[in-house]
Amino acid sequence: MSTIQASRPLDEERLMAFVFRAVEEVGATLNAALVVMGDKLGLYRALAGAGPLTASQLADKTGVAERYVREWCNAQAAGGFVEYEPDGNRYFLAPEQTVALTEPDSPAFLPGFFQVAIGSVLDSPRITEAALSGAGVGWHEHSHDVFDGCERFFRPGYNANLVPSWLPALDGVVEKLERGVKVADLGCGHGSSTILMATAYPNSTFVGSDYHDGSITTARQRAAEAGVEDRVTFEVAPAAAHPGSGYALVTMFDCLHDMGDPVGAARHVHDMLAPDGTWMIVEPQAGDRIEDNLNPVGRAYYGFSTLLCTPASLSQDVGMALGAQAGEARIRDVVTAGGLTRFRRAAETPFNNVFEARR
Ligand SMILES: C[S@@+](CC[C@H](N)C(=O)[O-])C[C@H]1O[C@@H](n2cnc3c(N)ncnc32)[C@H](O)[C@@H]1O
Repeated sequence: MSTIQASRPLDEERLMAFVFRAVEEVGATLNAALVVMGDKLGLYRALAGAGPLTASQLADKTGVAERYVREWCNAQAAGGFVEYEPDGNRYFLAPEQTVALTEPDSPAFLPGFFQVAIGSVLDSPRITEAALSGAGVGWHEHSHDVFDGCERFFRPGYNANLVPSWLPALDGVVEKLERGVKVADLGCGHGSSTILMATAYPNSTFVGSDYHDGSITTARQRAAEAGVEDRVTFEVAPAAAHPGSGYALVTMFDCLHDMGDPVGAARHVHDMLAPDGTWMIVEPQAGDRIEDNLNPVGRAYYGFSTLLCTPASLSQDVGMALGAQAGEARIRDVVTAGGLTRFRRAAETPFNNVFEARR
């Protein structure tokens, strides 16, 4: 089939269709910057619930120059991110756009997703250069939009799923958390998952760690803001050196595949766990075969994987570079190579797979 496709003559109509599809892609690429611009300048928030506004009214509300606001509004209207009312040249947000663009706690919130995308794109010249030699680029070497965007993108999904469905899907874990046990959250970034668990289970104690000191500084601030400092501490440590043992629960949220030596990390988790302890591994949604992932979610994740996750792993010792679309079979191989014997998929959402591993 593919040989026939490769050897057939050029089809002018297909060529034009491909070019027009690319026009859409260029618009989408630019839209990533425009969404981040609208988020940072408060344009979406000013539109939310305000009813139809002219560009000049929106400019007055936000203090942004009217000529920029007008052009931004037209680009947004052309892309379906803002609605346009020709009668009176006014712009407004539909209820769904309001939720997705202005409510940071909604699982549908999008600006964080765009922020991590734009941060990755802005850092891409370094990745292009590294690709020639095969060198890595560490997570810590990225711009602030990558760290902040990642937190803003993941946190609403954790809010919606972690306590209501992911933890209950693990065997006997919720009862232990309610009673009061020790939990370690490795590769915790800004600590959203750690703080969320600590808020829900005040009898347990939580240690979050990440090798990136900047992320740990932010995580400590977030814990103070959330008022959970009495039961949460954060440490700068690579996963393979997270301190302590006897943990009833070890968690990793969207970070195992970023590590250079995930098998080494798995071995360390094995040693950190109490004999009946549980390791929860949250990974991006992915199938085992490339063709399983050739869809919009897989496309976004392969993109992040090329620009963030694969270089991050290659920058560390071993450099296994699992990639963000590793799939269940490869995660299972890593976990069992680390000495854990029980492994299953406990839950899934359109964006994540949740695995349970035990000794
Ligand atoms: C995609 S972010 C996820 C952060 C956080 N778990 C969350 O869900 O918001 C990946 C994280 O893995 C961390 N990381 C990468 N390699 C690591 C390693 N070897 N040990 C500990 N953390 C690591 C990065 O610093 C980054 O914070």
